Amino acid sequence: MQVIIFDNAQDVAQSAAEWVAELINKKSNPVLGLATGSTPISLYKALVNKHKAGQINFNQTTTFNLDEYLGIDEQNKQSYRHFMNENLFNHVDIDKNKTFLPTCNQGENPRKQGLAYEDKIANAGGIDLQILGIGANGHIGFNEPTSSLASRTRIKTLSQQTLNDNSRLFAADEFQPTLAMTMGIATILDARYVLLMATGKNKAKAVKDMVTGALSAACPASALQMHENAIVLLDKEAASEL
Ligand code: GLP
Repeated sequence: MQVIIFDNAQDVAQSAAEWVAELINKKSNPVLGLATGSTPISLYKALVNKHKAGQINFNQTTTFNLDEYLGIDEQNKQSYRHFMNENLFNHVDIDKNKTFLPTCNQGENPRKQGLAYEDKIANAGGIDLQILGIGANGHIGFNEPTSSLASRTRIKTLSQQTLNDNSRLFAADEFQPTLAMTMGIATILDARYVLLMATGKNKAKAVKDMVTGALSAACPASALQMHENAIVLLDKEAASEL
């Protein structure tokens, strides 16, 4: 695990954008794994700016997101599809038919849909670079603590801590999903590179457990210790317990 500590969150985003730009500019038909949450928003802003400056094009890129809520459709502004459209896809030259999220249609076998997502990733050639954030409880994607380190794309129930942490994003009378379809930990580990971004004091404990703690399902992000190309970009606050 390569841990790089920056002065502030803006520098974390800028560095992450350089990694993405290098992949997209060098590789033909690059496959990018994407994340949601507040942390990567500044990365997506930096990528949009690079695109506007003519430094990066997405027209050959395929993307796979880590996760998507269940129980809301993609028009809902809380869906991760909506998040991706608003923060990245609507502002760059990506072909939206090549952008995928692990949706789960009601009435169809969820396990089959999870495995179909895995197949889609494999058929695209696998993920070259997976962007990750980290939950305050150490989750990656929506792989909550105790998720199997061998897990594949499937439905997960969100933990109370995650629901509490994310409740700030929902209005008081708005439906907050308690289930999500998420790539598994093994799916994430299959990516050729993983790039985890963490900023702010409230991530310091999770970062400590991920980097210096035991490899354990109690901290799903600790699985990245097993990855040969895991890059962790931190600001000083997120690194404060290392
Ligand atoms: C959600 C997402 C994760 C993300 C985490 C942290 O639960 N499923 O992919 O890493 O939140 O989000 P934030 O960056 O807002 O702290």
